Amino acid sequence: MAPDQLVAERLARRAATLELGTLRDAPEVVARLEAKGFNRHTFMCGQSGSGKTYSLGRLLEELVLRTRLPLLVLDPNGDHVHLGRTRAGVDQAVAAAYAEAAGDVRVLGAEPRDAVAPLRIRFRELGATAAAALLQLDPIADRAEYNALLHALRSAPAEGVESMDAAIELFRHSGDEVLGLIKMRVENLGVDRMAAWAKPSGSTIAEVWARDEPRALVADTSGFEERRERIAVAMAVLEQLWASRKRRRPLLLVVDEAHDVCPADPADPLERLAVDRFTRIAGEGRKYGIHLLLASQRPDKLPENVLSQCDNLLLMRVNSAGDRAALASMFGFVPPELIELAGTFGLGESLLAGKVSPDPQLARTGARLTPEGGADVPTDWAIVGER
Ligand SMILES: Nc1ncnc2c1ncn2[C@@H]1O[C@H](COP(=O)(O)OP(=O)(O)OP(=O)(O)O)[C@@H](O)[C@H]1O
Ligand SMILES: [Mg+2]
Repeated sequence: MAPDQLVAERLARRAATLELGTLRDAPEVVARLEAKGFNRHTFMCGQSGSGKTYSLGRLLEELVLRTRLPLLVLDPNGDHVHLGRTRAGVDQAVAAAYAEAAGDVRVLGAEPRDAVAPLRIRFRELGATAAAALLQLDPIADRAEYNALLHALRSAPAEGVESMDAAIELFRHSGDEVLGLIKMRVENLGVDRMAAWAKPSGSTIAEVWARDEPRALVADTSGFEERRERIAVAMAVLEQLWASRKRRRPLLLVVDEAHDVCPADPADPLERLAVDRFTRIAGEGRKYGIHLLLASQRPDKLPENVLSQCDNLLLMRVNSAGDRAALASMFGFVPPELIELAGTFGLGESLLAGKVSPDPQLARTGARLTPEGGADVPTDWAIVGER
């Protein structure tokens, strides 16, 4: 073992400004990440309960505090909704510095409440292909309806499809028989009742992101009961990021439970399209400044084409030997012996490797500055008499 002092000096010598916690085997030495390493895609992997979400929150805090990288967080469990404020008990000076850095952290939620604005999208923000996929329209088998939808979306004045209601009105009053069939389809599939549709006067997540350029935008999709709504939100975001890619405004797109919106085994056209869009960003997003940070429990839950583009691995406990072997073969830049250690990790312990940590580190995540959202189910049932 190298002496702690030497290790600390080596880690600090690089431009490693993010302080995630301590080294697992040297609790006096700070575990540091290089912020500029987030100009590549990152995979955070660990089984359920290994501490991914907690550590991801800690990492987001550091990115807020010590960088200017805009963050867009797709948060399916409402775990990151408190990213803008520190919890009680945090050192006053740290809390003040954080408050300053996090002043423009915005939260949108499926169910708006105090300080949480509505998380909404518009039909047209999906683009014609995704709109057709949502309506389960096949370009060949349903060519008449598909084509009518395509033209309706292209030719409609922008205000005509500002809202789902307006789109239905457009279909109804067109006098066109095929558009009438589309209207039936929308109603039969319950697409018109999805909670994610914006009112004409309201703002959508894509509009908030483009117009306000917030420091960080957390999209809490936990209130959407249907997966297709969470995927539709992801699609609207991905379409917008891609459409405005030439602006080259860098950002980190953080997706917790990434398999929910980018599954390895997409089951329908909408999921397939979402995977296609993620794959495009994984392959080509970096040169436009669109960087991914995807968290999931197992490597085989995400498409291989997406994972193979990740240059950073943040690995937490993985019990399955098969999963560790898959990770070792997929992440060739990490010594396999270190990946193997993930089977022994305790809660909050991790292996940090890749561009963010050119010297791979075994780390232990430090205490959060911000409160955890979501909250696990309490385990006080384990002891009789405890309240
Ligand atoms: N470093 C840590 N220090 C203290 N508590 C932690 C730490 N990491 C995680 N925990 C706690 O352990 C529990 C599980 O952590 P977390 O929710 O982050 O797991 P996860 O890997 O995201 O699981 P899942 O895949 O099921 O979402 C939580 O209650 C969290 O508060
Ligand atoms: Mg989690």
